[in-house]
Amino acid sequence: MAEPLPAVGRRRLFAGGAAAAVTAVVGPAGPAASSTLPATRGKPPANGSTPPASRSASAPGAVKAPADGSAVEPFHGPHQAGVATAPQAHAVFVGLELREGVGREEVSRMMRLLTDDARRLTQGRAALADTEPELAALPARLTVTFGFGPGLFTAVGREKRRPASVAPLPAFKIDKLEKRWSGGDLLVQICADDPLTVTHALRMVIKDARSFTRVRWTQRGFRRAAHTQQPGMTQRNVMGQLDGTVNPVPGTPEFDRAVWVREQGGWLSGGTTLVLRRIRAEMERWDAADVVAKEFTVGRRLADGAPLTGGREHDEPDFAKLTATGFPVISEYAHIRRARVADPNLRIMRRVYNYDEGVAADGKTDSGLLFASYQADITRQFVPVQERLAEADLLNEWTTPTGSAVFAVPPGCGPDGWIGESLLS
Ligand code: HEM
Repeated sequence: MAEPLPAVGRRRLFAGGAAAAVTAVVGPAGPAASSTLPATRGKPPANGSTPPASRSASAPGAVKAPADGSAVEPFHGPHQAGVATAPQAHAVFVGLELREGVGREEVSRMMRLLTDDARRLTQGRAALADTEPELAALPARLTVTFGFGPGLFTAVGREKRRPASVAPLPAFKIDKLEKRWSGGDLLVQICADDPLTVTHALRMVIKDARSFTRVRWTQRGFRRAAHTQQPGMTQRNVMGQLDGTVNPVPGTPEFDRAVWVREQGGWLSGGTTLVLRRIRAEMERWDAADVVAKEFTVGRRLADGAPLTGGREHDEPDFAKLTATGFPVISEYAHIRRARVADPNLRIMRRVYNYDEGVAADGKTDSGLLFASYQADITRQFVPVQERLAEADLLNEWTTPTGSAVFAVPPGCGPDGWIGESLLS
């Protein structure tokens, strides 16, 4: 029954027909589907989706959730907020280009201004000259995080201090990058549990950045709305998968080693680096794959995110486990096998948002992931994973990278400091 599956990986993947091949061997509701699906039917989904029967408990009036728009994330500290912060429901990433003639003095002035905006807004206070101060009153866990792209280092005469890996990534053969989603000298990442808060913060920051920069791109993302599932549960992405299971956990030594730059006396110490990839999900093609094909592609079950080798979501996948006929249960080309990094100190930290630009007149969706990856070192951590995935990952059949940008994310600051001070002053 499971015999044909490994043949897909070995013989047909490189011929470029993985999607068709997987669907062909398992069939639209193939034999394995019937043996897999009943096992999950009738059980409440383990993650993120409330079964219809229990939904009435949260019907209007039944449960009174506390209003916590006033929840605040700290702004000051050794690291910028918005990286280790539990992901908020809404995000906007903005890539800015420095205007002609903007150098170190101007960038320093701008960063002082933007830090002041962020410091106030994240604590529920209006920005200076805030034209709608009422909108600042509910920060809803707002964080504003800044990043410096390669061009900024040149503009401020600090090229020598640019980490070597904060440079455009090598070209990957899966890329179909568009300029309108790529590059940028300055990143502003704004996240909050309320979309109006995000919009207001964005407007305030852009007003102050306007005389120094031009907007190159704006990318809006979302996750599950706040309070729709228990804190700490893995979210589902637009493709329906539990996304974020194997990820460094904030507060652990592994997280600190994997994410924060630790360079004695270095300007970026306490900071990190960000790779932001815009990845379109080819939803019409994904719709045509059945559950078994979808699970085979990733190596995990859709219902509860457990590895195909069994157990529960956070159980270790058994990559050595073979089917009765001697083929790996988790394909050689499954996403989780290709993406796996054995050393937890070298993992990337994925803080992924969904995007959705709606449905075009022809009925096609434009949605996917704003794949935000934080790591101490892009070349050492991100690039090898992306190379393996570009080389062979069943998921490539259903996903297309259309944007790419890299940034150094400076450390945080204290009450008298400003973001970027260690580089610019
Ligand atoms: C649209 C594109 C993508 C989708 C839909 C996707 C989805 C997933 C899913 C469902 C998982 C399994 C659950 C989990 O551990 O989170 C996963 C794992 C993972 N993904 Fe992706 N992913 C995408 C792109 C990428 C990219 C571009 C990278 C890195 C370059 C990446 C790196 C990883 C890593 C490191 C893991 C954990 C693997 C492990 O050790 O088990 N993914 N992804």
